[in-house]
Amino acid sequence: MKARSRRTPGRLTELAGLQRGPRIRVTVDGREQDAYVGESVAAVMMADDDLELRSTIGGAARGVFCGMGACFDCLAIVDDVPNTRTCVTWAKDGMVIQRQCGAGEP
Ligand code: FES
Repeated sequence: MKARSRRTPGRLTELAGLQRGPRIRVTVDGREQDAYVGESVAAVMMADDDLELRSTIGGAARGVFCGMGACFDCLAIVDDVPNTRTCVTWAKDGMVIQRQCGAGEP
């Protein structure tokens, strides 16, 4: 049986030919990368081909599940605030995003 790929084909905007907002720069896990106004933090994190947004204390991978702020599977540390629901948080220029394990740092 073939292992399931975690790679994404690209941002939906590229696939559907939609127009993006202005380009901004954010830092994800210590690496600077491009993002666009109007994108959620979850979309920015997944654009780097990694669908795992956080892990539980036991090491289980979590990513976007509901996509509407109801399940808490997409938590990350955003601008030093742990447990930020990245699916309902919009990317801003200069934002610092970190994947978190468990409850994250206080
Ligand atoms: S994916 Fe459910 S709260 Fe973000």
